[in-house]
Amino acid sequence: MYSAKVMDHFKNPRNVGEIPDADGIGTVGNPTCGDLMSIYIKVRDGRIEDVKFKTFGCAAAIATSSMVTELAKGKTIEEALKITRNDVASELQGLPPIKMHCSNLAADALKAAIEDYLARKNGTPRPARVDHSCHIEHEAHEF
Ligand code: FES
Repeated sequence: MYSAKVMDHFKNPRNVGEIPDADGIGTVGNPTCGDLMSIYIKVRDGRIEDVKFKTFGCAAAIATSSMVTELAKGKTIEEALKITRNDVASELQGLPPIKMHCSNLAADALKAAIEDYLARKNGTPRPARVDHSCHIEHEAHEF
């Protein structure tokens, strides 16, 4: 049910960890499944020089976190902001429909980290943590 690429990123996740002096941190949680994802970015000359993640979640959440860090590394802030949930899922050769919401978490955590970076840089209020609700899980559990 998972592609070979998902299994590879789940078993050997890339860029795991924290960046202690990160320029931006994005944390996104899914209150329904309880999964939590944080992405840390280091930016130099407008480019994401380093990116790491910490995820407490399912196999798809780990694999999508790993993939989104690979997609973001080396990109400019503008390019990284264009990474979509679908980009993450298709780079992983697809996800089972019930697991598509996990790729939402990864793309949103990256976006939150970039927004945090921009807020720090511009001296504007930093964005609050985003709690991501999952319609599939809601329907499945009839919440
Ligand atoms: Fe919650 Fe995958 S089941 S993110």
